[in-house]
Amino acid sequence: RKAEKHLLVIFGASGDLTYRKLVPSVFDLYTQNLLPVNFGVLGLGRSKLSSEAFREKMKEGIKKFAGTTANKESMIDSFLEKLFYYSFDPEVKAEYEGFRDELEALNQKLDAGSNYIFYLATPPSLYPVVPANLAAYGLNREDKGFKRLIIEKPFGYDLESARKLNRKLQCNFKEDQIYRIDHYLGKETVQNMLVTRFANGIFEPLWNRNYIHHVEITSSEDIGVGSRGGYYDGSGALRDMVQNHLLLLTSLVAMEPPAVINADAMRNEMVKVLQSIRPIKEEEVEKYVIRGQYTASEIRGKMMKAYREEQGVDPQSRTETFVAMKFYIDNWRWAGVPFYIRTGKCLPTRVTEVVIHFNATPHHIFADNLQHVKTHNQLVLRIQPDEGILLKSAMKVPGAGFNVQDVNMDFHYSDLSNTYLPSAYERLLLDCMLGDATLYSRGDALEAAWQFVDPILKAWQNNPAIKVYGYPAGTWGPVESDELIEGVETWRYPCKN
Ligand code: BG6
Repeated sequence: RKAEKHLLVIFGASGDLTYRKLVPSVFDLYTQNLLPVNFGVLGLGRSKLSSEAFREKMKEGIKKFAGTTANKESMIDSFLEKLFYYSFDPEVKAEYEGFRDELEALNQKLDAGSNYIFYLATPPSLYPVVPANLAAYGLNREDKGFKRLIIEKPFGYDLESARKLNRKLQCNFKEDQIYRIDHYLGKETVQNMLVTRFANGIFEPLWNRNYIHHVEITSSEDIGVGSRGGYYDGSGALRDMVQNHLLLLTSLVAMEPPAVINADAMRNEMVKVLQSIRPIKEEEVEKYVIRGQYTASEIRGKMMKAYREEQGVDPQSRTETFVAMKFYIDNWRWAGVPFYIRTGKCLPTRVTEVVIHFNATPHHIFADNLQHVKTHNQLVLRIQPDEGILLKSAMKVPGAGFNVQDVNMDFHYSDLSNTYLPSAYERLLLDCMLGDATLYSRGDALEAAWQFVDPILKAWQNNPAIKVYGYPAGTWGPVESDELIEGVETWRYPCKN
């Protein structure tokens, strides 16, 4: 479906996100003919740039980062004509008058129906400021066309700030005008988890405490914080990855089937999961949550820096670059089933996957094969890279006796030849253009996720005795994280076979 006519207005257009993700994704939509004719992008920023200079810069970004290859060269120039730039200070209310005039003139010129999407790709300090200023100039009113607001992460710094931000936004925009983006929900394979669960008759009957032993979610990266040390040091892995991406994945794995796929039905089910996660009390944090920080090491002859040596990081920093935790979801479906999640920087490989570990058979008639007795069936939902699904099950080894071996039934997206996997931003931007908020976070879900994470942050802040374990860069995090998993083998290493 094609989007309605509109203007996409990007605050923070001279920044990295616009250059690497937003404009290349819009270009990808354009090459697939998913954008309306009456469409334009208005980039905004403090940097004094002409529209020409902005186009030149975006052209470079498109060349480097756009996903589609077909028609890239032939369509780039006509696409660039749809890009415009206006320089002003979005913190200063009085400057919105000039901006509004500019916006309205462009709206007239392109006949965009006064439909505006405001994308906040700015530092978080501007999240409450820009919407209030837009509202002061009537740019939240939908009498003449839709007005939508997309907000990037981080959405708040803790529960209190997230609540405040929600209240502030809701003073100026209605909930159904607010699109809080989490790019994990835009990933094809994340959406495929819903299809795997709810379009197949064979998984859902087993998807509960009677058949599932435990659930494991890993999201590892093999790189360090790079040039983002300044931001990351004030954030840490719990805020940067767990509060948003990993808890969203958890809610998709654990949710009840919605009656239909639409924004309200889906998000009602997701929020219920988040509200059912058993809180980890401050005094339990040391037992259930392991945090780590990478230290210097040498991998295959290459020296890797310690986190504390990274640019922009406090040399005494206690910020975690790794976190692993165990928790329960207290509801009928999941009572007693442990969920283990972990994420980290400078681990051995980049992989995100969800592993469902099924119970072993209740009685082992092939008990001579001890190796198999210990293993459970596993369903691995591989989010990235090498996107796909793998089911591990037991088979007989050909020949005498009953020797049992685990085999993989393995599906790779790459086997679907010629399949173009749209990027997360491409999918989510198009959804917002279509007015579909299903894959955007609702305010109450974000607050529920913060509610779970907040006591952990408080415990770390209030109790310096809680350890930050060092782990050599390039390893799977502190060994202490292995001890979280009791009674079963361990985490899946290296998450691919
Ligand atoms: C971002 C985090 O939200 O997600 C980054 O701020 C992290 O620190 C990134 O690297 C991971 O996203 P992806 O899509 O590469 O898994």
